[in-house]
Amino acid sequence: MTKQDLNDLRNVFETELDKHIRLLQTPIEMLKPMIYSLKGGGKRLRPLLLLAILNAESEKHMKKGATTAVALEFIHTYSLIHDDLPAMDNDDLRRGQPTAHIKFDEATAILAGDALLTDAFCLISDDSKLKSKQKVKIISLLSSAAGSHGMVAGQLGDMQAENKEITLEELNQIHEFKTGKLFTFATQAAAIIGEFTPEVEELLVNFGETFGVLYQIHNDLLDVIDDSSLSGKGHSSDEFNKKSTYPNLLGLEESKEVLGQEREKAEKIIEKITKLSGTDYSILNKFLSFTDID
Ligand code: IPE
Ligand code: IPE
Ligand code: MG
Ligand code: MG
Repeated sequence: MTKQDLNDLRNVFETELDKHIRLLQTPIEMLKPMIYSLKGGGKRLRPLLLLAILNAESEKHMKKGATTAVALEFIHTYSLIHDDLPAMDNDDLRRGQPTAHIKFDEATAILAGDALLTDAFCLISDDSKLKSKQKVKIISLLSSAAGSHGMVAGQLGDMQAENKEITLEELNQIHEFKTGKLFTFATQAAAIIGEFTPEVEELLVNFGETFGVLYQIHNDLLDVIDDSSLSGKGHSSDEFNKKSTYPNLLGLEESKEVLGQEREKAEKIIEKITKLSGTDYSILNKFLSFTDID
């Protein structure tokens, strides 16, 4: 079983996640909201991206990335818990379920986010599958991707762009940070764990950046097109919060066109990675189908 598909990888991921949840030495009152959000039906795109890249090389490579994949999902989960808070997007629903601060309370949701963010780094430092040098590099990359010059900077930009007209360039930058950075981490961490060449690493980073922007455009389009079934948020949160988004800036049709262009760009990068590495990376195309609109 060397070439596993996304469902197999999802199973590997869920098993590893459950293992780490069981190992957490956390009071039950904190564990409950953490598990509620971690097991709330997320698509697991970021950890799956990391695992899929390594698995293209071999199953052995993929297994080395399992704990880093869990750490990444911890950080993504924290980012969503905080993103939904009343002081931020003030959303009551996520994935069709009450958001953490509605299900529990605001203070508990804030702490569950804090816990997930901090515990993520402990998972990586305690990972016996990686060399010390790899762990230091991965911790450095993950803190940069998530922190004040990564995802958090993007979230600040997103807040500042509410009720305001911004340029397409500014919007792209917000997307690159708030969504792109964690996807880019997934691809770059895979390159470090798999000890890929710098050339392949660069192309993978390129793919992560492109996919991040693509995915956020798709997310913003869903917010407009869909009432609740796909986004699981129940109403247009972006419209209510007067967010700067692709559909607001360009309209629906032009946004779909940009989505198509970015997708072509991503497809070309996949071809390049396959050619340069001599490994079949076509599994990355499966991630692109998560940005289908119809
Ligand atoms: C939602 O991310 C937030 C964005 C950055 C667009 P996902 O759509 O990956 O969230 P889940 O975890 O699958 O619900
Ligand atoms: C969330 O962006 C990005 C994060 C860093 C959490 P959005 O606010 O656009 O995502 P949704 O629509 O709530 O999932
Ligand atoms: Mg937001
Ligand atoms: Mg939001």
